[in-house]
Amino acid sequence: MSFQAPKGVSEYVPPRSALFEEAREAFNESARRACYAPVETAVFEDTSLFVRGVGESSDVVRKEMYSFETRGGDQVTLRPEFTAGVLRAVLEHNLHRGALPVKVFTSGAAFRYEQPQAGRYRQFYQFDLEAIGTEDPAVDAETIAVAYDAYRSLGLTQFTLLLNSLGDSNCRPVYRAALQDFLRKLDLDEETRQRIEINPLRVLDDKRPEVREQTADAPYIVDYLCEACKTHYDTVRALLTSMNIPYQDAPRLVRGLDYYTRTTYEFDHALLGAQSGIGGGGRYDGLSEDIGGPPLPGIGFAVGLDRIVLAIESERGAAAAPAATGCQVFGVALGEDAHTDVLTFITALRRAGVAADMAFGSRGLKGAMKAADRSGARFAVIIGAEERKSGTVSIKDLENGEQQDVAATSATDWLLSKLRRAGEEAE
Ligand code: HAM
Repeated sequence: MSFQAPKGVSEYVPPRSALFEEAREAFNESARRACYAPVETAVFEDTSLFVRGVGESSDVVRKEMYSFETRGGDQVTLRPEFTAGVLRAVLEHNLHRGALPVKVFTSGAAFRYEQPQAGRYRQFYQFDLEAIGTEDPAVDAETIAVAYDAYRSLGLTQFTLLLNSLGDSNCRPVYRAALQDFLRKLDLDEETRQRIEINPLRVLDDKRPEVREQTADAPYIVDYLCEACKTHYDTVRALLTSMNIPYQDAPRLVRGLDYYTRTTYEFDHALLGAQSGIGGGGRYDGLSEDIGGPPLPGIGFAVGLDRIVLAIESERGAAAAPAATGCQVFGVALGEDAHTDVLTFITALRRAGVAADMAFGSRGLKGAMKAADRSGARFAVIIGAEERKSGTVSIKDLENGEQQDVAATSATDWLLSKLRRAGEEAE
């Protein structure tokens, strides 16, 4: 029998894995440029961290967590998202007692027991960024800019930034009550009626036409924001405009996790169908206290790297797939004796910064040259008995077929300058 990955697990193998790596690196790079520091945190946490952090009324906690009891009797859960765990780590390691805000980023697998479909998986990958310890609206705008610039650096254009404010503990309860009043008068099914009592904002997010129609005139949170929240929201919008970041006010935008306050946002991709959310985030000014910490405001976002890969593929089309390895030089040994020379030669190349590979196993020249072509390398370096005798290597340009002998001692420099020139021409 043969095994398959469990249902809904997203995996990447070459050549597509290069696209995944490109996506993750674009976000890492954008975060580093804004002086965020990398962190690695627990893949599983105490279940109660997510229950208290993500929230008991969220679908994630109610229906989607991978929770289990360890052999030692602890109740743990595979992270369904990063924010609660990152904040837990920041508090545990006392980073909040140092310079604020604490600015960190991370990435890795997250787990939600959802119904798998295109763009929605049970094991998926997020890039996550958090700025913890300031209420300054400039940091809200900064997090959005980091995400926006990463999407753009990947060449993406077909996406929209949706922006809303969810208010704070001052104004949200007033809005919540007004919304509940409105919703209770509607003709809704039993499950939705229950939702009105537990998490009424989520009803606004219901995609069914019969619910949409009835909630068209629902009160919007923007009309209920207190002065402080309104000023905060207006400042974030003005900052985005000054940074040339287009956005749409989305008064119905609510997020799937309970911890959000004030600024909330989502990036929506036009070509992805039902699972169009390529990223989202917002403020969570009460989360620290919810998980037993001191008052500590925070904001951040996460992007679904799987969906970024799909978005790149949909926008770039056939041009999306990069070379699997990025190999630049491929070594070919003619005869057993030359194997050592080839491995030594490509090791020197690698140490000089060139991506190099070689034909392993005993293949004939034809098979080895086929492997060289397939590797995507620009040059093949061939070493046989003759080259060994004359102290040369034979270098074939795989783009135009030209071949020439170069002294072994200067071959590395020769290749370096050729590759540099080819790189400059490509730019
Ligand atoms: P989220 O909206 O639940 O937010 O997830 C962020 C992104 O992860 C989504 O926009 C989507 O691209 C991706 N995603 C979510 N679920 C799946 C899935 N089942 N399959 C594939 N991709 C998925 C959060 O997770 C928050 N922790 C973000 C945040 C950080 N807020 C503040 N800081």
